[in-house]
Amino acid sequence: MKLNWAERLVVNNPMRVFEQRLEIGWMKKHARLSPGGSFLEIGCGRGAGASIIREQFSPAFLCATDLDPMMMKRAVRYLYGRETRNIRFCAADGLRLPLTDSVFDAVFGFGVLHHIPDWQGALAEVARVLKPGGLYFLEELYPSLYQNFITKHILLHPEKNRFGPCDLQTALESAGFSVRATFQIKFAGILAVLEKAN
Ligand SMILES: C[S@@+](CC[C@H](N)C(=O)[O-])C[C@H]1O[C@@H](n2cnc3c(N)ncnc32)[C@H](O)[C@@H]1O
Repeated sequence: MKLNWAERLVVNNPMRVFEQRLEIGWMKKHARLSPGGSFLEIGCGRGAGASIIREQFSPAFLCATDLDPMMMKRAVRYLYGRETRNIRFCAADGLRLPLTDSVFDAVFGFGVLHHIPDWQGALAEVARVLKPGGLYFLEELYPSLYQNFITKHILLHPEKNRFGPCDLQTALESAGFSVRATFQIKFAGILAVLEKAN
């Protein structure tokens, strides 16, 4: 589901870049990822995360995707004049990635699963395109943050099939992931590094 005006304000601002920089720093501390790999980002938005991932992990190739072609245009604008070597942007639905199986060493997703009605299907797609032993870096929010009595009137999200911490953990296990590290922010969200089974 595409963002509405309010959430575009939330994610397309310098505070979000600062937050993502801290989160990617945390992820880097909890995962040894050799430079030179093939990476994917789903729901990349305006591309700030892709730029930080490139800088911090030095992949050979980073494919940054988003459902919303407008976001792809924003990404090209946002990254103009910055180092974008090895990053390719393409519009794609996280539920139907136009990519072959087992090709990526790492997949990143910041705040995207909770925008997808069939988020379990998106997890299965992440598992499909990751190599065995590949890493999934995840930042997610829970309904108590984005669907509470205030935010449900301002933000736009799918209403059915929502997930909290237990649902997410069960779905990650069913999709074949094991937990390397997590940082839970009670009732609000989670940062995690996960590994696809070999
Ligand atoms: C909350 S924003 C996060 C953007 C960026 N990752 C960030 O952290 O700033 C969620 C992003 O997911 C994208 N999105 C929503 N549904 C999607 C889907 N089915 N497949 C891929 N991207 C999707 C939206 O267009 C939006 O850019």
